Amino acid sequence: MPDKIKKITALEILDSRGEPTLQVEVELSNGTIGQASVPSGASTGRFEAYELRDDDAFRYGGKGVLKAVDNVNKILNKELNGLRVVEQKQIDDLMLSIDGTKNKSKLGANAILGVSLAVAHTAAKSTGQPLYKYLRQLYKPELKTYNLPTPVVNVINGGKHASTNIDLQEFWIVPHKATKFKDKLQQASNIFHALGELLHSVGYDTDLGNEGGYAPNVKSHREIFDMIMQAINSAGLEPDKDIILGIDAGASVFYNAETKTYDLNLDKLSMSSEEMVDYYLDLITEYPLRLLEDPFEEEDWATWTLLNKNSLIKDYKIKVIGDDLFVTNVKRLQKGLELQAANSILIKPNQIGTLSETFDAIRLAQDNDYQIIISHRSGETTDTTIADLAVAVDAQFIKTGSTARGERIAKYNRLLKIEEDLK
Ligand code: PGA
Ligand code: ZN
Repeated sequence: MPDKIKKITALEILDSRGEPTLQVEVELSNGTIGQASVPSGASTGRFEAYELRDDDAFRYGGKGVLKAVDNVNKILNKELNGLRVVEQKQIDDLMLSIDGTKNKSKLGANAILGVSLAVAHTAAKSTGQPLYKYLRQLYKPELKTYNLPTPVVNVINGGKHASTNIDLQEFWIVPHKATKFKDKLQQASNIFHALGELLHSVGYDTDLGNEGGYAPNVKSHREIFDMIMQAINSAGLEPDKDIILGIDAGASVFYNAETKTYDLNLDKLSMSSEEMVDYYLDLITEYPLRLLEDPFEEEDWATWTLLNKNSLIKDYKIKVIGDDLFVTNVKRLQKGLELQAANSILIKPNQIGTLSETFDAIRLAQDNDYQIIISHRSGETTDTTIADLAVAVDAQFIKTGSTARGERIAKYNRLLKIEEDLK
């Protein structure tokens, strides 16, 4: 007997920045209960689905989500009542039609995503499967083997994720050589601690930013790469061979639309698009920098294509990753495919607002040989859905912060458990 939705309730909870977000619970007629919580970005793309906030200055500085909570409790609870919980696509489509807007601004993408994910959790429970196996059934049942994603571990936080002088948003270490997830995580943790000791030894701050990476003030962006290289060596590992590097430049934040320049204040550089391309190409040849997320502003398509078509990208097997560029949206990804703007995509379910549309973006990307990086947001909860999602869709990478802070670690710990269960 397919189990039917009896009740859906939402609750306003806090995320890792202490800002309000939603936790949604779905209850079935057979008593099964599942839940999910919704993350929130700080350096959001302009084309993301709409995050509904209350704008009531007397509560949480206007950031309350009681309107979104109400939309779940009063509207979606009623409209989805009696539907079979395993009909994920039908449920997601119905929410889209109830909302009726292009960007989910009526109900709020946060309200819709909370329900969409909680429905999947509850369906997995009621069918007696771990979430990653249930999501695999929804996504691509013909895919038989399970692989764990490689973590891209954000050890230095800049941009909008920390109060430092670092313009580039994230600096990653990527343990690409080890085969087991648990070994990759251990290597990342060793490097993270070695980097902390190194920063401390030169008198730099070792407090953590939004995603758990260190957030010091530094002399230049190259100094960060040098210190990470040194930390890799201190941990007894070899840069390039064992560990490659990546960045999320988060370039929309330091792009000056008036002067059409990329302004890296830390390096005292104000660069044209072409000069910004060269800046990255120089780094690629100097360091084992192999993953580049959002190297350019989200509407600077021509420059994305210019970089992506450069022969060094192929030679060094660089992943050119669109985050704010694609916002997990098939229409934007389609444009990127036509323009050959990138070769990899960052996937954030809350950028688009339903699980089914998240699958659509991943499917289109994989059909075109893109690499997949499933990602957290800078504002997170201890919800671990993205860990299961990464395994379900056979993503090459997961991005969920450093090896510190509970809301980041929750995802890594979930992957450790999945790997153990799959043994
Ligand atoms: P955000 O940052 O969640 O603040 O948008 C993450 C990212 O840019 O990848
Ligand atoms: Zn990003």
